[in-house]
Order: sequence, then C-alpha cells, then structure tokens
Amino acid sequence: MTTIIAVANQKGGVAKTTTTVSLAGAMVQRGLDVLVVDLDPQANLTLALGMNPGKLRASIADVLLNSASLQSVSRETTIPGLDLVPSTAEMELAERFLSIRHNYESILAQALNGRLGKSTVYDFVILDCPPSMGAVTVNALNATDLLIIPTQPEYFSAHALKAMMATIRRLRSEHNPRLIYRILVTMHDRRNRIHRNLNEQIRATFGEGLFETVIDIDTKLRESAVAGIPITHYKPNTRSALQYTALAEELIQHVQEKIAKPA
Ligand SMILES: Nc1ncnc2c1ncn2[C@@H]1O[C@H](COP(=O)(O)OP(=O)(O)OP(=O)(O)O)[C@@H](O)[C@H]1O
Ligand SMILES: [Mg+2]
Repeated sequence: MTTIIAVANQKGGVAKTTTTVSLAGAMVQRGLDVLVVDLDPQANLTLALGMNPGKLRASIADVLLNSASLQSVSRETTIPGLDLVPSTAEMELAERFLSIRHNYESILAQALNGRLGKSTVYDFVILDCPPSMGAVTVNALNATDLLIIPTQPEYFSAHALKAMMATIRRLRSEHNPRLIYRILVTMHDRRNRIHRNLNEQIRATFGEGLFETVIDIDTKLRESAVAGIPITHYKPNTRSALQYTALAEELIQHVQEKIAKPA
C-alpha cells in the first residue's frame, strides 16, 4: 500500500521542501521506495535533487493541466529508490488555470489513484506544496493520507498555524474527511529562549497533533540542497540527518498505527 503525505504551510520558508527531501532520504535509506512530487513553481525540490527545471520538458503541470499520468512525468534521481516528479515554471499556469477544470480539486488525487496509483510501486509519495493555499495545495490536501505542517518556533509562524487549522476544517467537510495532520517544529534553536518558549506553547496547544521529533537549525541542510542530494546521503551523521531519520521512524510508526489499517 502506498501512503501519501503532503507537506504544506501557506507560510513561506518554513522548511517544507527541506522536510520533503530529507524525509524521503531517510525513508529510502531504510529500504523504502519513495516518490517525491514538486508542486511549487519555484521548483526548489527539483533543484534540491540536482535537476535543472529549465531543461525539463515534462513536469507535474502536465498532470494537472493536461491529464498526463504521474508515471509518464516521473524520473529517477541519483539516489536509488527515490523518484521525482519535477516542477517547472509552467506550474505558474497550473495555479492560475487549474480551477477552470471540471472537478479540479481532485485531479491530483485521481492521478495518484490511477495507473501509478495506490499500487505497490511506492511505499510513500510525498507532495511538496507551494507557500499558498491556492488550487494546487488544495489538490494535494485532497489527495493526502497525512498532512505534515512544518513550522518555525516564531510568533508569526504560530499565528499562521491558526489559518491552517481553519483550512483543514473546511477541506475535511468538503472533500477529504479523513484528512489528518501533524505539526513539525523546524529550525529550532535550542539556545534561543523565545524558541524554547514557543515550542512549549505550540506543544501545549496542539498536544498529540505534534511530532515528538524536533528539527534543529543546521547549516548543513543548505549545503546539501546546493549539492543536490538529501542530507541523509550528503552528511548521514549530522544532527539534522539523524533528526530526519528519527522523524521517518516516528512517522512510519504513526502510519502503521493510524492509517494503514488492515482491509
Ligand atoms: N533545520 C534547518 N536549519 C537551517 N536551515 C534550514 C533548516 N531547514 C531549512 N533550512 C533552510 O531554510 C530555507 C527555507 O527552507 P525551505 O526551502 O525548505 O522552506 P520552504 O517552506 O519549502 O520554502 P517555500 O515556502 O519558499 O517553499 C532554505 O535555505 C533551507 O536550506
Ligand atoms: Mg519549498
């Protein structure tokens, strides 16, 4: 069975893409087969896996706008077990024109259920969303089994979480009643008192809705993005690689308990 995970937060720069690529790296190291899907016209995930979006012909935009299959636009990365559906600037068009299509909110869900499908090909599909709550992110949230919301322990980020909660409630009532979420605290600075306080506040507010694992600040994550490989393969023993590995373990356990119920 394939478990679909969306990584989303309308706030920009909260480590959505870093979480997608690092989590995928940790899962692949564990022997799982993973497909990551870049839904952002910025194409940061595509770049972080060493591909040049300017040189690609096919992208996720073909799936959303022209009903191409995910299989036809996916490609292997340099990491065995990790495939990518890349993004290009064409995704700007998808954000603008997607809503004209019939039943546009479920196009991605249908593509994931289609030929490539919730078959046995991948253990996990991870969807990296753009920093907005437009038609593309709504598609991802309607397709997902679990939503990961990365957030920084900053005042404005904590505020943005409230808006995310309102969106989740709306999507649950309109399209995806089984939408569940987990918040992930990222870029945490243990030496910063405000970070420690806000981390505790978020934990008190969201309780079970939070991953135990916290991702600390680690400049090696930027280096691995430039190198075009996940941190788990770039510097496997750095703190953030170990933390993303712990996150993968926590998530896999959560999926086994909550999502992958026997038929
Ligand atoms: N734990 C971390 N420690 C230090 N830097 C980090 C960490 N996580 C992410 N970064 C850096 O922060 C920046 C933003 O991260 P990223 O691109 O993953 O965020 P994003 O939410 O995907 O952004 P966008 O909203 O633009 O899509 C990047 O330069 C990334 O390398
Ligand atoms: Mg991003």
